[in-house]
Amino acid sequence: MTDRLVGKTAIVTGAAQGIGFAIAECFVAEGARVAIADINRDRGEAAAARLASEGATVIFEAVDVADQASVDPMVSRVVQRIGAPDILVNNAGIAVFRNPLETTAGDWQRCFSVDLDGVWYASRAVLPYFLEKGKGDIINIASTHSFKIIPHCFPYPIAKHAVLGLTRALAIEYADRNIRVNAIAPGYTATEIVERIFAESPDPAATRRATNALHPVKRIGRPEEIGWAAVFLASDEARFMTAECIVIDGGRSALFHE
Ligand SMILES: NC(=O)c1ccc[n+]([C@@H]2O[C@H](COP(=O)([O-])OP(=O)(O)OC[C@H]3O[C@@H](n4cnc5c(N)ncnc54)[C@H](O)[C@@H]3O)[C@@H](O)[C@H]2O)c1
Repeated sequence: MTDRLVGKTAIVTGAAQGIGFAIAECFVAEGARVAIADINRDRGEAAAARLASEGATVIFEAVDVADQASVDPMVSRVVQRIGAPDILVNNAGIAVFRNPLETTAGDWQRCFSVDLDGVWYASRAVLPYFLEKGKGDIINIASTHSFKIIPHCFPYPIAKHAVLGLTRALAIEYADRNIRVNAIAPGYTATEIVERIFAESPDPAATRRATNALHPVKRIGRPEEIGWAAVFLASDEARFMTAECIVIDGGRSALFHE
């Protein structure tokens, strides 16, 4: 443990598991107070208890990021319990993968409400605190789907492209107020969702091997490899970085596929 985030309060959405939990874990290791804000109360409380058991300040707050009326009171409760936020990580997200013409209005709405509206609602809720403090960091978890299209993954990449637009728009709007807004675009990362996709495929071992082989580094990513990038972006080491996106995909998007 070092102390790159000592004295800072962070809200990480969707941190009950997966990449969000790894980000929370890395933030705690660097001395931050962390609010795990997630729609899943049971897992969120367990995740907070696990991180708090070693003496760190970690709380759970229930929230549906797709609903501004749920997000605003969540941020107010965090302020009361562990102080006004210095860092927001917009990590909560869902994968809605369909063919375009099979996408129902409900699929479209569900995808955009969580993956895009949720990023805006939480950003909107913390920005007044950041403006008052004269500083703050927003880190949006985008995706390699923010840059490239894989067929039958509609409409998820559209929302993730828009997350980059939102990142840049807010970054420029608030750059002269000492508020930085950046994104991280993970590639294939070994979270439960990905493990389930492997497990449910006809030949899990072959699917895993094929997926690993798609990557120049011959493996998929680990959640903490996103977490440490988030620590960097939230730290003073990244103080001249804003409106930027770090791609973390083991080199896959630089690879030319024949
Ligand atoms: N795993 C990957 O390969 C991968 C790759 C690129 C980008 N991402 C992005 O990383 C982020 C995290 O992905 P993950 O794989 O850890 O997913 P995950 O499903 O393991 O975790 C997502 C978390 O978000 C929470 N959540 C979902 N909807 C919510 C809502 N409306 N309000 C609050 N919380 C909500 C869930 O309860 C869960 O705890 C997502 O934005 C995802 O799009 C993941």
